[in-house]
Amino acid sequence: MDLHSIRDNEHHTAFAKELLLNNNRGGYTIPSARLYPFQWNWDSGFIALGLLHIDLQKAMEEIRSLFKGQWSNGMLPHINFHHPDPNYFPGPDHWATNDIPERPSAVQTSGITQPPVIGFILARMNDFLVEKPAEWKTFLKEIFPKVVDSHRYLYENRDPHREGLVYIHHNWESGTDNSPVWDDILEGIDVSQARDVATLRRDIKNVDVAQRPTNENYKRYICLIDLFIKHRYKDAEIVKECPFLVQDILFNCMLVKSNQGLIELAEKLNFDASILVEWNNKTIKAIQQKLWDESCGFYYNYDLKNQRRIPIKISSGFMPLFAGICTKQQADQLVYHLQYSFVKNEEWMLCPSTAADEPAFNPLKYWRGPVWINLNWMLYHGLLRYEKTDLAHKIKEQSVQLMQTIGMFEYFDARPVSEGGTRAGLGADLFSWSAALYLDFLYDPKPF
Ligand code: DGY
Repeated sequence: MDLHSIRDNEHHTAFAKELLLNNNRGGYTIPSARLYPFQWNWDSGFIALGLLHIDLQKAMEEIRSLFKGQWSNGMLPHINFHHPDPNYFPGPDHWATNDIPERPSAVQTSGITQPPVIGFILARMNDFLVEKPAEWKTFLKEIFPKVVDSHRYLYENRDPHREGLVYIHHNWESGTDNSPVWDDILEGIDVSQARDVATLRRDIKNVDVAQRPTNENYKRYICLIDLFIKHRYKDAEIVKECPFLVQDILFNCMLVKSNQGLIELAEKLNFDASILVEWNNKTIKAIQQKLWDESCGFYYNYDLKNQRRIPIKISSGFMPLFAGICTKQQADQLVYHLQYSFVKNEEWMLCPSTAADEPAFNPLKYWRGPVWINLNWMLYHGLLRYEKTDLAHKIKEQSVQLMQTIGMFEYFDARPVSEGGTRAGLGADLFSWSAALYLDFLYDPKPF
């Protein structure tokens, strides 16, 4: 089937399914052939959910393939390089993980992680499967302890003060790669000895440079990786020297939502969930105490190195709705920001990744303004949970409409055409998690 011809007619569901199957490489699915030719961690979580609406076997394979990359210390890497592909930088050689004792033998991987989504994805999948086949139960028993190990890794290695909040040490671990919340920290990095990697980049050969991070950004991204390599990926050493240590609101909310998913599954699987409950309560309390800014009525990231909040409004700040941890009053305050600082008027699409009233807002550049489907999907479920039903449905309808009229792109301009907005898709086309969540939006078995 020719994907481009389907786009022009009404069969968007068939298109989404075909897209996912086309991006499947036998056991795992790449986010997009044009930009990301390997298996990415949080992408795979959302993709597995989409695959579930096509073929349970493929959905289980997706997650099994992801865990092939798990390190012996529990860390679940952000990329598994299952097969070589020169069309990406930094590829496996740049990560230099080959002689790191913790790495798995089955597959080459990167050396950092990504937002922990698998716990809640498994819970959602389990909900969807009304009749649970035996192979699903076997699969859950096999994967469950591995997901717990990946959480244990975070709590034991990324929470030096035992606060219940885990830190990330690279912006790529946040998932919101070039968000303005990283600007000050990245600009503060001493790059006098850093490599210039501009000529090694592949992304800007494939996507409009205006929509991607800058070369100066990339120099800093790689400089951090070089620091990890110097310390042979030992967190206890990295933490002493790393200029980037952030307690990220999205990352910690994903952890809570996944803890909750695991706790729910543990009861059904007869696993002891007490440690998960302990971790989770501590994280919820810490998010509320440390990341909530009472004067602004918004959740901000915390820069652990410089001990300060980062007061820039990005869509990650809405994730406590998805995790279900804010009060009704906090939810009202978040909704106020969603309607009045993230967009300029009702003609705008929800939800820009950076608030439109932030000076750094850029409508076209990656995580500095454009609308992302996975954030919208989580926001939709979060808003439903707090009975903001109209707004939730508006987000779902707009997401579906964007994908039906423009395509299953990586991200979208939130502005109306009357204010200069483009209705061309942004970033990569034929983007897997957009297609996967399109399917989940349509099937939507129940609020989550
Ligand atoms: C990229 O290459 O932009 C990825 O998001 C980093 O993992």
